[in-house]
Amino acid sequence: MSTSELKHTQTLATLGTSSAEQVHALFAELRKRFDAEAAGATDENSWKALREGWLGRKSGVLTLVTDHWLKPATPELKRTVGASLNELRAHVDAQIEMRRVAVEAGAEAAASAKDRVDLSLPGVLRPVGTHHLIRQVFQEIEDIFFSIGFSVVEGPEIETPYYNFEALNIPEHHPVRDDMDTFYLELPKGAPGPLLLRTHTSPVQIHTMEKREPPVRVIVPGKVYRRDNPDATHSFMFHQIEGLAVDSDITFCDFTGTIDYFVKQFFGEGVTTRFRPSYFPFTEPSVEFDASCVFCGGRGTGKTGGTCGKCKGSGWIELFGAGMVDPAVYGFVNYDPKKVSGFAFGIGIDRLAMLKYGIDDIQAFFQNDVRFLRQFP
Ligand code: FA5
Repeated sequence: MSTSELKHTQTLATLGTSSAEQVHALFAELRKRFDAEAAGATDENSWKALREGWLGRKSGVLTLVTDHWLKPATPELKRTVGASLNELRAHVDAQIEMRRVAVEAGAEAAASAKDRVDLSLPGVLRPVGTHHLIRQVFQEIEDIFFSIGFSVVEGPEIETPYYNFEALNIPEHHPVRDDMDTFYLELPKGAPGPLLLRTHTSPVQIHTMEKREPPVRVIVPGKVYRRDNPDATHSFMFHQIEGLAVDSDITFCDFTGTIDYFVKQFFGEGVTTRFRPSYFPFTEPSVEFDASCVFCGGRGTGKTGGTCGKCKGSGWIELFGAGMVDPAVYGFVNYDPKKVSGFAFGIGIDRLAMLKYGIDDIQAFFQNDVRFLRQFP
């Protein structure tokens, strides 16, 4: 601190001040010093230091001026010192308040400048997700069946052998179980079991009929599991949609008409269907539905005249298995087979999607390669 800065810590007598003019000169010097310091108070910290330095109760400049200049002043100078001090105090108060407003406004402006959005900058591209093709095909099929009075039900992926096999008229040691070899769960010792991953959505037929009285018209979308080795048409986890309609007067014509309606809605009006005899223990009679080849229009010949590679020249493509519900199944759910009849079908969604969208490897569905997924927005 320079000597002029320390003057307020000395009495007027020590400073040799004895006239009103000298007092005015001292206060003018002090005010000049304050104005210089105030000009530098441009942020919150320097403003706080300014306020403490000049208005601080114990050692602020104005307190020291009161103690060293005013209190010990001679009676002749006291009035002049008092008036000058009041004037300086009013100036200091007003300036400090002004600086506070300015500093706060500056801080706000700086903050809003930081947050300002520059609309001229290029935007950030956020990739938008979409439904997987399998999900899209599920929805497409669900919508078609909704339109003819079916509703959706779901069932557990972990099943007991009773629901997956026995109640579907597949007793233990039935050869059809070989085709549906599956994954059994490792259970703690003593736990009631066994439990397995369902091999088809057909167990939900049983759950539904146990819970509901006819009429029943449901479809069951879901995941199923088999111990199949992966290749272009096989996966150990894949998707099915089960269909079940049971009522007092459902005929084979209702059955084939419903399937034909579905296939035309899904593949296009120009596609025709046929069925061939097949075998499932839970349907009687059982059939396999084919559609006229969607690639060659059922002609069996490719665009260039040779044999159509998709249907191998037959003009037909195998779609899925189905049939009239076997009366033996009604026995497991306490329906009276003399009073009710119905049909059921089980569509493999993955292979149906491959057919419709020309995909030649089922594994593409599960590899999560965005170059594949992006083709089905
Ligand atoms: C069944 O699963 C019967 N539950 C279908 C059914 C339901 C018949 C109701 C009658 C009445 P299947 O084992 O054929 O049937 O399988 C049905 C479909 O699942 C097949 O047509 C095929 O599209 C698909 N599929 C079977 N195994 C695999 C696999 N490993 N990977 C991908 N799709 C498969």
